[in-house]
Amino acid sequence: MATNRTFTMLKPDAVEKGHIGAILEKISASGFRIVAMKLTQMTVADAETFYAIHKERPFFPDLVQYMTRGPIVAAILEKDNAVEDFRTLIGATNPEDAAEGTIRKLYAESISENAVHGSDSDENAAIEGAFHFSGREKF
Ligand code: CMP
Repeated sequence: MATNRTFTMLKPDAVEKGHIGAILEKISASGFRIVAMKLTQMTVADAETFYAIHKERPFFPDLVQYMTRGPIVAAILEKDNAVEDFRTLIGATNPEDAAEGTIRKLYAESISENAVHGSDSDENAAIEGAFHFSGREKF
């Protein structure tokens, strides 16, 4: 059953370029409620754990370097059909393939530096949200 919550990170490239405000505005305007949010920086161990599913992929070392090089904004978002609707809002992994008006089309540079993360299932949304937030930090 859909939990109606998803997990997102505004990645280091989006934070470095000063896009936090614009991206959060778009997320709010699209009907998502912020349940939890913080500016934080992942350690190498954090990124290796968070992206463990990709550890055999050739881009894994670059992914870990990218995701640890500066602060991110981590957030849990709530909305009907949150996981699917948020993935529609952010667009395809590769910004070249992302639909017009999506966050990645507007703010992402490349398939590797793609500005924003969105969970791909309800199960992963719960796992990823719990990775970054304790129960006390969720509203
Ligand atoms: P995301 O889908 O949020 O989570 C996995 C990340 O790995 C992805 O965003 C990109 O940042 C990165 N990634 C995925 N595919 C590639 C690829 N082919 N080359 C480089 N990086 C990738």
